[in-house]
Amino acid sequence: MAINGIETLLYGVDDVATCTRYFEDFGLPLLEKSDAHAHFRLDEGSNVILRAVSDPAIPRSKIVGTGVHETAWGVDSEASLEKLVRSLSTDREVQRDSDGTAHCLDDDGLAIALRVFRKTPVVSAPDPCNSPGRIKRLNQQRKWRLKARPTVIQHVVFRVPDYEKSWAFYRDRLNFRLSDVQRTFGIFGRAEGCRDHHNIYLLNASLPFPGMDGQRRFDHVNYGVEDIDEIMVGANHMERQGWPKSTWGLGRHRIASSLFFYLPCPAGGQAEYGADSDALDDSWVPRSWDPMFGFFSFVHNLAPYMMEPAAWDVAFVEGYTPPSKSRSP
Ligand SMILES: [Fe+2]
Repeated sequence: MAINGIETLLYGVDDVATCTRYFEDFGLPLLEKSDAHAHFRLDEGSNVILRAVSDPAIPRSKIVGTGVHETAWGVDSEASLEKLVRSLSTDREVQRDSDGTAHCLDDDGLAIALRVFRKTPVVSAPDPCNSPGRIKRLNQQRKWRLKARPTVIQHVVFRVPDYEKSWAFYRDRLNFRLSDVQRTFGIFGRAEGCRDHHNIYLLNASLPFPGMDGQRRFDHVNYGVEDIDEIMVGANHMERQGWPKSTWGLGRHRIASSLFFYLPCPAGGQAEYGADSDALDDSWVPRSWDPMFGFFSFVHNLAPYMMEPAAWDVAFVEGYTPPSKSRSP
């Protein structure tokens, strides 16, 4: 019963035209648009749909504010879809569309959907990196680009009041795997049929940061690009188009080892360019991180609270490794 990724993100926004222009500049391929909506489709076949937050097509849920108002998870087969729907129907209302899509709420009251997703394999060819004494590009330049063009949706992030409780739904009902724990901050989980480090991050909505008010809110989506050059060409293009600049700029998380570049987004929260993340399968052992140590290994613009280097504090999550036997003296 494998969920194989994010099939569609439905954003509820204040201004469809402005948000459409934003995501076109961001590099999402536009499939169609009207006064009421915009529909982008990425190379993997996943979709981003924008509608006014007041549009009747936006499901009722407990999310506050603009941003992603429904996450449609892709499922690998009709049989897997029906199995998941049967299980979810035992304790919640599940509505079906004529094409088989199932809609319901997760345990936080956030809207999710399930739909068969025939994912299209994507192609990428990141330029090899040279380093002293190790030549991987000889007489060969790196690619030149005009803007970014994300090909995949890697993860979605929601702020929730109780991330342990929120995570239990994805683990127990949708068969997600635990990837890593960022202590007091949140939990990273990945779908059974994915190799991404995480497809969902459930973030503590009560952290002492600006804009965190304890409410269920959308935080950000990570759109995957090829490499650091595509991230930065994309970021430069966004700035030239007049969109607000990133607060942190380019950085790399220690958790997931991923390059990040977060941009403020008029559709709600932030839009993240991501590249070079760890890829995981079921032999991965989840870790529990000091939150600031896991947060980043480098970041371009250090915020005041980042000035003190974090303690190198990380351990394996209990229960995923053999119990330690007490040694007799
Ligand atoms: Fe992210």
